[in-house]
Amino acid sequence: MAHGSDLSLLKERLAGAESVTVLTGAGISADSGVPTFRGKDGLWRTHRAEDLATPEAFARDPRLVWEWYNWRRELIAAKRPNPAHDAVVVLERRCRSFWLITQNVDGLHRDAGSRKLSEIHGNIWMVRCTECSRVVENRDVPIHILPVCHHCRGLLRPHIVWFGESLADEDLRHSYAALRSCSLCVIIGTSGLVYPAAGFASMAKEAGAFVAEINLDPTPQSALVDVSLQGRAKDIVPLLLDPI
Ligand code: OAD
Repeated sequence: MAHGSDLSLLKERLAGAESVTVLTGAGISADSGVPTFRGKDGLWRTHRAEDLATPEAFARDPRLVWEWYNWRRELIAAKRPNPAHDAVVVLERRCRSFWLITQNVDGLHRDAGSRKLSEIHGNIWMVRCTECSRVVENRDVPIHILPVCHHCRGLLRPHIVWFGESLADEDLRHSYAALRSCSLCVIIGTSGLVYPAAGFASMAKEAGAFVAEINLDPTPQSALVDVSLQGRAKDIVPLLLDPI
């Protein structure tokens, strides 16, 4: 559970912060019932990323990849934002300068009401044409197996950044600007193992920000952050909104 004095310190920093950047990972959605990737019941414990989340896997067997995303769409469609997502929305509204960087593709931050955000790994409710590259929203559950583009009949793929692929330039630009300019960076529910996000804590720290981490467990970044609060995101993040 959160340590009282560390929580107070973080709240003081938040109260005085000129600009705030929040980075989230699967842990913030775990409290909504969305599986994480690397925990005890994490998706990568029972599924091989190489078979499901790479461009090579899609080229080899698009049906298998779509079946997996269909299964995740069905699961996520039934989930709702939790108090941690809601608290991030309040932070956005309270802070004059705010940016949210999320690695999550579930769209729960948007559902909660977050608007100033970069979904750096994409969004499971968006699809992209492998021929003409058009990106469109698609909320079908289940999606028709091997869906095709309405414009050019090309094969559609999930608009998700897979292993071996680059993040969108615009997302990187926004993220780097937010990390370099913030006075407070709060990192919530990420294992800190996947780059470039794994380097964001040190980037913010080097730029002079106060960096805080909220996670169920210690991470590789715990040693370098200013405050590390252990516990569930849904319990701790809302506490940041209470008066000092
Ligand atoms: P991980 O599954 O790697 O890590 C989830 C983190 O959340 C762990 O550090 C947990 O300790 C923590 N956690 C779990 N439940 C929590 C809770 N209730 N409250 C707070 N923390 C909790 O997920 P990510 O770090 O998001 O990429 O993974 C990064 C990327 O790796 C994902 O975006 C995904 C994956 O492969 C792609 O699919 C491209």
